[in-house]
Amino acid sequence: MKKISLTQYLVEQQREHGRIPAQLRLLIEVVARACKQIAISVNKGALGDVLGTATTENVQGEVQKKLDIIANEVLLEANSWGGHLAAMASEEMDSIHTVPDRYPQGEYLLLFDPLDGSSNIDVNVSIGTIFSVLKKVGHHHGVNEADFLQSGKAQAAAGYCIYGPQTTLALTVGDGVAMFTLDREQGSWVLTSENVQIPADTKEFAVNMSNMRHWAPPVKRYIDECLAGTDGPRGKDFNMRWIASMVADVHRILTRGGVFLYPWDKREPDKPGKLRLMYEANPMAFLVEQAGGAATNGHERILDITPGKLHERVSVVLGSKNEVERVTAYHAKAN
Ligand code: AHG
Repeated sequence: MKKISLTQYLVEQQREHGRIPAQLRLLIEVVARACKQIAISVNKGALGDVLGTATTENVQGEVQKKLDIIANEVLLEANSWGGHLAAMASEEMDSIHTVPDRYPQGEYLLLFDPLDGSSNIDVNVSIGTIFSVLKKVGHHHGVNEADFLQSGKAQAAAGYCIYGPQTTLALTVGDGVAMFTLDREQGSWVLTSENVQIPADTKEFAVNMSNMRHWAPPVKRYIDECLAGTDGPRGKDFNMRWIASMVADVHRILTRGGVFLYPWDKREPDKPGKLRLMYEANPMAFLVEQAGGAATNGHERILDITPGKLHERVSVVLGSKNEVERVTAYHAKAN
């Protein structure tokens, strides 16, 4: 079987489908190369002294893991000098990182969660890197935070790399979802699935059930009905999975369907949700929609939300279309 590399896939997207300009192709290749480097650190674990916490906190007041910092540095360094970017923003940094003046400025903006699911690092469970690409709008000099505040539907590309039993890169440039598996001997990404599709129906949900008593009634109703199984209104039994790493839960959903929820909860009523709109929800929503699924915050399509700030949080319901529509309809009825 002829192997198609990430480079070949991107060249074909550029040449035959006219979807991606050269700068975007370079950007994706650089991100993919950085993910290979992060994968090496992840795999080394204790041997590379990368486990455990650092002494620092990120902008959200969360204690950083050593690998959070390593992955952030790898992505910043890899993307600084290629001339494809204007600036970057990371879940781990307070403010945006502009490309140093000594390098040429590109027209793209890169956002990333360098190491998603960090509570899984030390226990050797799947984690990942999530990224989102926007284009700088307007011709003003320099870049500021406002340039990043575009809704998710403006994304030029998005993807994640999962560091699990295999290292896999899922990517969309707005032409479906393709997945590439890292061939460690060759050091290259090989196309292993194309035109990924999420089935519209599912019998599997992913949610942190320990928060159930804090949820809003529509979410509680939905999960109650799933738990009632064949005895309840859904008339079928559901299975539950929760990996505590959005990358791993979304990867399962892209592979075999399911619905993922991280809803608002009443412990912190002013906080819309736990997950970050720009680094987690938007890129995952883009991938899921490109695979035929849906993604909302319970009320509206995630990709339609106009962010008010870089580190904005959001409730997330995404995955199999009919389930997401059901949860969203329950919210509309409750209103
Ligand atoms: P972090 O990267 O800070 O560890 O957060 C992980 C996110 C997301 O990836 C995952 O779905 C969720 O938080 C897990 O939350 P719980 O701790 O509530 O399980």
